[in-house]
Amino acid sequence: MPTYTITGRRALRGRIRPAAAKNSTLPLLAATLLCQGPCRLRDAPRLADVDTSLALLRAVGADVRRDGGDVCTRPADAVCGDIPDHLAGAMRSSVFYLAPLLFRAGYVRLPLPGGCRLGPRPVDIHLAGLAAMGADITFEGIAVTLRRSGPLRGVDFTLRLPSVGATMTLLMAACAAEGRTVLRGAAREPEIADMVRFLRACGARITGEDTSVLTIDGGRPLGGAVHRPLPDRIAAATYAAAVTAAGGDVEICGCDPAIYDAFLRFLAETGAEVRRDGDRVRIARDPAVPLRGGADLTADAWPAFATDTAPLAAAVLLTAQGESRIRDALFANRFACAAGFAAMGAACEAKGRRLTIQGGAALHGAHVTAPDLRGGAALAVAALAAEGQTVLVDCGHIKRGYEDLAGELRELGAGILQPSP
Ligand code: EPU
Repeated sequence: MPTYTITGRRALRGRIRPAAAKNSTLPLLAATLLCQGPCRLRDAPRLADVDTSLALLRAVGADVRRDGGDVCTRPADAVCGDIPDHLAGAMRSSVFYLAPLLFRAGYVRLPLPGGCRLGPRPVDIHLAGLAAMGADITFEGIAVTLRRSGPLRGVDFTLRLPSVGATMTLLMAACAAEGRTVLRGAAREPEIADMVRFLRACGARITGEDTSVLTIDGGRPLGGAVHRPLPDRIAAATYAAAVTAAGGDVEICGCDPAIYDAFLRFLAETGAEVRRDGDRVRIARDPAVPLRGGADLTADAWPAFATDTAPLAAAVLLTAQGESRIRDALFANRFACAAGFAAMGAACEAKGRRLTIQGGAALHGAHVTAPDLRGGAALAVAALAAEGQTVLVDCGHIKRGYEDLAGELRELGAGILQPSP
């Protein structure tokens, strides 16, 4: 199992540029299946989930290759709608293939999607929207199959909650559907606007991005596009958390601070110095001065505090003075990393969606296991603030979402050894 060995209490210094966002790139790769022309995604991140997506695209018949840092796709003559079990089970993002394969192949069979075990992750909104557009849905064992007998048709559909994934699915379906679709209660995360920019560059007619009502005039053939996915705001928040926990002075460049504003405001509240300048943010923290705790955070849909940054905030708050509370309104099991925090000497308790942190902990190195992607990154951040050596096991989770977290942190001065194969 891949392992990081982290020696804490070393200040971080330097400059870092986040790679393109996983949560933009993965749905964009699926959306290329809608296109009748070639697509190029600039500087697509080298992540395990991107590799799985490329394998999935090839498995259904798409022509896709890496060209340096870019990923290039060409329209395939024919695609099949069968998503192999092992690829569906390797990542949550297999769900993004429902709409494009239903459109292109006329059917899609999706076995149970994998991904982080953050609690129940139903796909009912994806399915309800696609059913309203004309899909016939059948369940068999752990797989769901969708078929269409004619073209998908535009609808006026209200999402029962602003699911990011379902908004992506229904945006893609609406571009393929005949007539106008209005999506109400849509997610507003920056990755949705990034998908809209890509689809528009391909020729789609969409209005309303950044609002909760998206209007799509579908049925137009989509060409290809060259697109640079949005920078990764969660990776940016991870570096910001790391320097706040460990101390030092780091500039995070190439990522608009507005897309992780809630996290930067939280760090400033803890006492970190946060200076913004265009698409750069400089974070400085004197490790001799204790951080301020007392935070009361609720992670929820955009523009609230991002759920993916909740474990990172927790890692920062472990040593801060005062009791803090974090609640995750989206996922029931966001704080599985609490066991690792406790092993490092933190006084914290996870109860369902809530994490309570007593604060003021003198963290020490320990042997801990990454429970999921962001929980694993949060344990790495906590280890940077701990006295002694931490062994973090199962960093395979981390490689699903960070190109080289160990190498990047080491470049900034952290004592962190590369995962062994
Ligand atoms: N939900 C439903 N029914 C649905 C869809 C969602 O009940 O049909 C619920 C979920 O169970 C959850 C809530 O809605 O309680 C929000 O889920 P959402 O669909 O918004 O999340 P997602 O699309 O599954 C994406 C990211 C997550 C990120 C969330 C929230 C990708 C690949 N994943 O997941 O990122 O936490 O949005 O912003 O885009 C990660 O990067 O580690 C990660 C988990």
